[in-house]
Amino acid sequence: MILSGEVENLNITVLAEDSVLYESPYLAQHGVSFLLEAVSEGETKRILVDVGQNSQALLHNMSLMDVSASSIDTIVLTHCHYDHTQGVVKMLEQIDRNDVRIVAHSDIFRPHFITEPELRYVGIQPEDSREKIEAAGGHILLGKEPFQLMAGMSTTGEVSRQTDFEEVGIALKTRKDGVVEDDNMLDDISVIAKIKGKGIVVVTGCSHAGIVNIMLQAKEMTGCDRIDGVIGGFHLVEAPEKRILRTVAEIAKLNPSRIIAGHCTGFRAQVELYLAFREKFVPLRTGMRLSF
Ligand SMILES: [Fe+2]
Ligand SMILES: [Fe+2]
Repeated sequence: MILSGEVENLNITVLAEDSVLYESPYLAQHGVSFLLEAVSEGETKRILVDVGQNSQALLHNMSLMDVSASSIDTIVLTHCHYDHTQGVVKMLEQIDRNDVRIVAHSDIFRPHFITEPELRYVGIQPEDSREKIEAAGGHILLGKEPFQLMAGMSTTGEVSRQTDFEEVGIALKTRKDGVVEDDNMLDDISVIAKIKGKGIVVVTGCSHAGIVNIMLQAKEMTGCDRIDGVIGGFHLVEAPEKRILRTVAEIAKLNPSRIIAGHCTGFRAQVELYLAFREKFVPLRTGMRLSF
């Protein structure tokens, strides 16, 4: 067990997602951003998990939701993809302080390309470079190990790949010492919270490490078997049906009380999740407010 302490309560606001709540005025974008507000040991933290890719839409939604940037103390970047990290410097400019923690995996700034259907750079953009983040007031905290965000809340750190059916499934490359190599998204991290008297909540960006691997790691890190919520993208959008069905079956064994999945989860996986979990499953939407 790695995670110490418990969070008294956790409120999650979905600031950005690929779709919006029915009849809502929010703007969608391909990407996610979540605001986590948590209290533990008399301390309140406001943690942003990812910043989507369109800061105009994100800031528009925040203003409609009455969410002020100025009290955000930490930004967790779940992985390097532009639809989770683009505009982090613009967000820091809105926060306008010089003590904002930027938490991510140590490999997040590596060169990162997708090769199909064509070669394209999909990693951290030049306008969000390490230097520009620091100049905008960000304190970059990189590591492969879990990072404790507060008592009862932590990143997963690098996720051990335990299952034999989950894979990145995208043609991704990086460049190391001048040599092009396959990129297995080892920088993919999630946030986990242990809620006092309740279970675990898992917040993921794209789950490139595999959603079942992530849930297994959350259980191991907390020593807790009860999963109250799993929120985010499961990246099954291009997965073969066999993997989707196996994933749903393995999630069912872990028996989460609520699954709120969208972004890169994909329509077919959402359908299977709904058929398996019925009212326990809800598609992720911009504007949702969740309480644990
Ligand atoms: Fe994504
Ligand atoms: Fe991604």
